[in-house]
Amino acid sequence: MVQFRTFHNRDTPGILKLWHASKLGPSAAEGFPCDILELFVFSQPFFDRNGFIVATEDDRIVAFVHAGFRSNESGSDLDYTQGVISGLVVHPDFRGQGLGRQLVGQAEEYLARKGARVVVAGAGLDGNGFYNGIYGGLQASGLSKATVPWDEFYEALGYQPDQNIFVFHRDLTMGRDPISSRLIRHRRRLNLVITDRVRDLSWWWHVRFGHLDALRFELQERHNEEIVASGQIVGLDVYVPKWGVRAVGMRDIYVPENQRRNGYGLSLVLEICRRLREQSIQLIEAQVDSNNEAAQQMFLAANFEHVQELVTYRRELTPAEPQAQND
Ligand SMILES: CC(C)(COP(=O)(O)OP(=O)(O)OC[C@H]1O[C@@H](n2cnc3c(N)ncnc32)[C@H](O)[C@@H]1OP(=O)(O)O)[C@@H](O)C(=O)NCCC(=O)NCCS
Repeated sequence: MVQFRTFHNRDTPGILKLWHASKLGPSAAEGFPCDILELFVFSQPFFDRNGFIVATEDDRIVAFVHAGFRSNESGSDLDYTQGVISGLVVHPDFRGQGLGRQLVGQAEEYLARKGARVVVAGAGLDGNGFYNGIYGGLQASGLSKATVPWDEFYEALGYQPDQNIFVFHRDLTMGRDPISSRLIRHRRRLNLVITDRVRDLSWWWHVRFGHLDALRFELQERHNEEIVASGQIVGLDVYVPKWGVRAVGMRDIYVPENQRRNGYGLSLVLEICRRLREQSIQLIEAQVDSNNEAAQQMFLAANFEHVQELVTYRRELTPAEPQAQND
């Protein structure tokens, strides 16, 4: 008989086994050892064992749900009113028996007890404090529909579709970089500055990406060092066994508003591609909200391809009974 309980420290090997047996699709890293799960999930300073519920049969872990919270606006702390379901996995042999529904119900109870007013399954762009670097590619910002009918599942549980995140890939071994007189002028006029010094990054950035290799890139005017575009890359080393190539994620490409539509964003993305190609990186991934037309068009102009979508689902919660608010 299947039983439910909260996480124990000794569970990591059983969860790793479940992860690898569950065919989680192209967005899930595979072939990694227990210490990666410890690093990316259980050793996070805000990991709460009460939010990680496992289903067991004869002591074997056959499913889990992982509930948590997204950060506040400034990224300085968790916002306990905004619950997320960071992870939900049911072993293929145990699907279709109501385990997913029961686990989501228990996750919702936990979140409501802690003060959540809403729950977002899949978390959304920059919403997931866990699994970054092992699920979702660049970040664990949504659910891949490649192997699971998430629409049917979450809609049956009373959730509404929420965010759509487009995943773009560029294979650096294929095709040529676009060229134009504007891009050539930028190369003459601008300096590319690369630094591993992290600056102006929030607590939320550090807890999610601090254990990955990261670099910051800036395009600066040669004559006055004004920054016209900036961005970051993070290493996706845990994906090497799954994807068979060295990959990095490109994020936070930013052009000051008064400098937009001058080709600076595109110039920066192409400069980063050039540098990574020299380092024998084969694949770059970027994630963009489906409403962010500017960023999508910029990545397409840089010869990225739209390869898949990550999705989230949302449900408002009714407040918990007051006497239950103390775990
Ligand atoms: C996305 C962003 C970086 C683009 O920077 P930019 O320097 O203005 O973009 P570019 O001038 O290099 O544009 C390159 C191409 O992208 C497309 N594009 C850029 N902005 C666009 C817009 N607002 N609408 C439609 N297409 C747009 C165009 O095809 C453009 O080529 P064109 O000027 O020859 O028509 C900028 O809008 C920004 O900083 N946005 C806020 C941060 C963000 O959303 N970052 C993305 C997450 S990684």
